[in-house]
Amino acid sequence: MESLPDYSLKPKDVITIDDSDLTTVPLSTDVSILVARQDVFYDDDIGEEGKESREFSEIIFLRKFNNWIKTVLINKYCDSLSFKNMPSVLDLCAGKGGDLPKWIFRGVSHYVAMEYQDSLIQKGMQRLKQQRNIKFPSIFIVHDAGDPNTLVDKVLDNRDLFRNIKKKIVFDIVSCQFSMHYLYESETKLRAFLHNVSCRLEPGGFYIATTVDAEKVVSLMRTTESGRRELCISNRFYSIRFGQEEYSKIVDPSAPGSGSPYGLKFYFYLKDAVGRHRQSDEGRPVYVPEYLVPIDHLEQIASEEFELELVEKKNLLEFYQENLELGKNQHLFDRMVASSLHDNLTDQDIQEQWEICGLYLVLAFRKRGKAPFRQRDNFGNFDLIRYANVKDWR
Ligand SMILES: C[S@@+](CC[C@H](N)C(=O)[O-])C[C@H]1O[C@@H](n2cnc3c(N)ncnc32)[C@H](O)[C@@H]1O
Repeated sequence: MESLPDYSLKPKDVITIDDSDLTTVPLSTDVSILVARQDVFYDDDIGEEGKESREFSEIIFLRKFNNWIKTVLINKYCDSLSFKNMPSVLDLCAGKGGDLPKWIFRGVSHYVAMEYQDSLIQKGMQRLKQQRNIKFPSIFIVHDAGDPNTLVDKVLDNRDLFRNIKKKIVFDIVSCQFSMHYLYESETKLRAFLHNVSCRLEPGGFYIATTVDAEKVVSLMRTTESGRRELCISNRFYSIRFGQEEYSKIVDPSAPGSGSPYGLKFYFYLKDAVGRHRQSDEGRPVYVPEYLVPIDHLEQIASEEFELELVEKKNLLEFYQENLELGKNQHLFDRMVASSLHDNLTDQDIQEQWEICGLYLVLAFRKRGKAPFRQRDNFGNFDLIRYANVKDWR
């Protein structure tokens, strides 16, 4: 196989993960992996000065493809709202505001981001501050979207924090991109999360998400040549591994712990983005724990307990095919993906990154009820960009 030129980040950009952030997890008697805490793991920002190296990221096709998918998903469900004014948005697990440009381009009446890593929220705010002519108010909240003790409605009703807000803050769209799989760790987290999704979502509004396609992942799982109990799928860019015990819970109804939809853990490594190699570790990949999202269960609990009806569920590749047919999306794809790839990306690279795209799906839920008729306006006389860290006021 052709060897890849080294596009990985320049040494100054490599994040050193502290030993205390890592554990060694045995998957079987002869296989163990390095696993990081989720929150350490995702601070993969390379800064403005690293923009150039981001363009030369080895997984550039995947990054651009995912961005196109999110743009099309956002546009589709903004267009599906019954009123034609600008939507209000809650972006859960927002990271460093990677989707902000999409919302700005689309036009929103207000934007609220929630993310549990302060450093990422700060970067998102910076990003917005650098934009000229921003007219909509926004709130950047540092908080765990799966914390049952302080739910979104409680945060937004905090009069000390949001003194100047005269109106109840509600949303037409709630978005959670490439993150929902963390919330399936436990029932408590998932319920808190779904409450957060639904509690301020207007009837007729949409919850849109991208997450791991559990069926696809499980169907691809195989035992590797090196040992029957090493359950993994991988290519040069990513790797997913299950421990034998976890995997048994999924496929064997008689296994201890099987039958629960929660905590179906696997370990994920993605080159150049997640699971950054530890500088001192001679290239041993670092994995992050994630959880399968059993869609039938999600559909049921969302509908029965949170007023959310599933209206779309599609593997990313199917969603791509279906939506590319619309002329405007084709144009967008050419601009966002096809025309902006660096020359050194081989067909083989694209093929392998394509495989990763196929491990995810898009989801859309509609909040039950009739959309209220109202003038769309924002939440009033308010500083344009507001920051809140829930830890500071609890
Ligand atoms: C893969 S990134 C996606 C970021 C962003 N949504 C995007 O699409 O660019 C996952 C993000 O979810 C955040 N996250 C994970 N679990 C969370 C939780 N329980 N509450 C808030 N944020 C969480 C992580 O810190 C990380 O920024």
